[in-house]
Amino acid sequence: MQLSDQQRDAVEYVGTPALVVAGAGSGKTRTLTSKIDYLVSNGYDPERILAITFTNKAADEMKRRLVRMTGMPLKRFPWVRTFHSACFKILKKHCFLLGYNTPLQIYAGYQQQKILKDIIVGKLNFDKKYVQPVLAQLSRAKNSGDPFDYLDQKIYAFRIRLLDVFNLYEKELKSNNAVDFDNILLLTRNLLRDHKNVRKQYRKLFQFILVDEYQDTNNLQEDLTGLLLRNGNLFCVGDDWQAIHSEEAIWIISCRFLKSTKMPGFSGWNRTIVPRMRLFGRQMI
Ligand SMILES: Nc1ncnc2c1ncn2[C@@H]1O[C@H](COP(=O)(O)OP(=O)(O)OP(=O)(O)O)[C@@H](O)[C@H]1O
Ligand SMILES: [Mg+2]
Repeated sequence: MQLSDQQRDAVEYVGTPALVVAGAGSGKTRTLTSKIDYLVSNGYDPERILAITFTNKAADEMKRRLVRMTGMPLKRFPWVRTFHSACFKILKKHCFLLGYNTPLQIYAGYQQQKILKDIIVGKLNFDKKYVQPVLAQLSRAKNSGDPFDYLDQKIYAFRIRLLDVFNLYEKELKSNNAVDFDNILLLTRNLLRDHKNVRKQYRKLFQFILVDEYQDTNNLQEDLTGLLLRNGNLFCVGDDWQAIHSEEAIWIISCRFLKSTKMPGFSGWNRTIVPRMRLFGRQMI
């Protein structure tokens, strides 16, 4: 499959962080996969490339393509993963630094609801109909990147003091040596932020970071990218229309991107690529 000129430009651009914003089905994921292939054929170690996809299925698909493109075995691409999967790999290795043991458990769906029900119905005497909405609030608080600040602003939901629920819930998870999906991101962010040696280790490991579906990245994921990024080797692709239906979309995404690069003296995203990619958006292929 031949790349279009616009795709090739983006694939071969290395030097400063670059962001591609283009329409649905315009070949963004294909561009990102080709860029990994390009980096590997230019001497980058595939085991040191972190490529973030939106789902596990997309990661598997990307790995299969990379095997076809590079002729290398699947296991050479250990860091083609979702944010959650990459973070869990990091977290479980260093969880003792945060007071956990191995094996670290992941609690999802039913287990989370059971803990929360014991708190909301059992301890606080509220109706069980509040379990799901309170769980959603706790999730929002964690994904904001600063749960205590969030819960400082949003003190009550349905007359339930969210901070009390949060503290009891977190205590219960921790005593079970368990994390929920949001904690996987939050605790890995805290780990990388608060433990310089761990941060240094992963910054040294990752030579290049690529993120697909960038428009769906939240504060916490943006922090993680910033903490893992060593030298500005960041390439993200996103869809303005899938994210926010407004003329401002590209600027909103660009500002988030700039923030996550956290590069001193970095004067802007790669303006030569982005407007062209955007201009030709749907005809990129
Ligand atoms: N240069 C190319 N030549 C031919 N086909 C291409 C090319 N680039 C991408 N395609 C094909 O176009 C389709 C859409 O590509 P891709 O999935 O990369 O787009 P996308 O922008 O990531 O889409 P989405 O918005 O759904 O994430 C795929 O089937 C892909 O194989
Ligand atoms: Mg895509």
